[in-house]
Amino acid sequence: MAIDDLERVKGVGSATASKLRAAGLTTVEALAVTPAREVAERSGLSEEIAFRICDEARRLMRFGFIKAADLWEKRKSMLRCTTGSRRLDEILGGGVETQAITELIGDYGVGKTQICMTLSVMAQLPREKGGLEGNVVYIDTEGTFSPERIYQIAVSRGLDGESILGGIIMARAYTSDHQCLLIDHLFKKCPEENARLVVVDSMISHFRGEYIGRDELSQRQQKLNQYLHKLLRLSEAYNLAVVITNQVQANPAQFFGNPEQPTGGHVMAHACTHRVRLRRGKGGTRVATIIDSPYLPESKAAFRITERGIEDSEGEAPEDEEE
Ligand SMILES: Nc1ncnc2c1ncn2[C@@H]1O[C@H](COP(=O)(O)OP(=O)(O)O)[C@@H](O)[C@H]1O
Ligand SMILES: [Mg+2]
Repeated sequence: MAIDDLERVKGVGSATASKLRAAGLTTVEALAVTPAREVAERSGLSEEIAFRICDEARRLMRFGFIKAADLWEKRKSMLRCTTGSRRLDEILGGGVETQAITELIGDYGVGKTQICMTLSVMAQLPREKGGLEGNVVYIDTEGTFSPERIYQIAVSRGLDGESILGGIIMARAYTSDHQCLLIDHLFKKCPEENARLVVVDSMISHFRGEYIGRDELSQRQQKLNQYLHKLLRLSEAYNLAVVITNQVQANPAQFFGNPEQPTGGHVMAHACTHRVRLRRGKGGTRVATIIDSPYLPESKAAFRITERGIEDSEGEAPEDEEE
């Protein structure tokens, strides 16, 4: 149920609706999932009015308790984007989902950015080709986004490189504050640009680099939590896919299991819907493992990085020998 007409919310007239739209709150759903205080701040409406209309929007969307059958109905509008690798799509349940955050976790050079760039091409394909028929907003925090590489991936796949580049809106984030500001802008930018995919590569590197002291850790985690939840709300409000990347960190105190853990701790683990762990496999291949998902089984897929971005590697499914 996508209710686009803001004026249907009790108490929202055309003047209020235009303030809301100017603040990037263009749908009843966006209004329903944004905290009232933030609605007030962004739109310039009083907090009292914001609280009232947010409440009405939630009532209209029947938020609070809903029937599982209605949730099922909402999930039916969920779309999936192909990654370029059929096997990786399979373990993701058919591709990267909208209305969710998919987190790519792994060491430097393992292929996180390559997956993000391939997705930025694939998301623009028509639905029947596995795309999302929309544009892409790409937030690059490490300076590794490469238009030449996007062009190469597009052309290798028989697409028009320039038109694919034209469908990607890129912003370089220089600090964590800047990154947060850009994420705030997404609520306005995404509907304006008809974005169906939002990439944040990487979500955490600025946070890790800036909040170094032990006493700053809880502050960092709160901010990270706040912005991950904004991204999740964004994905639900506009039915788009959010893909973020994360690093791993050696934990010398861990004697059993894998000593390399994703950074960002519980905040990251709880906010992200699907977590995909990436490792180097045999002969230059890469292995993806679903490590945490509400309904996808733990499973593995091997892929390669080629001129086409990422694609299936030949041969059988990966063995269990690594780790
Ligand atoms: N055009 C290309 N063809 C084949 N492999 C490539 C190409 N461009 C980059 N790669 C490979 O991608 C890897 C880097 O992946 P990247 O996504 O940047 O890692 P990270 O996980 O750090 O983001 C390197 O191993 C590099 O060889
Ligand atoms: Mg990278």
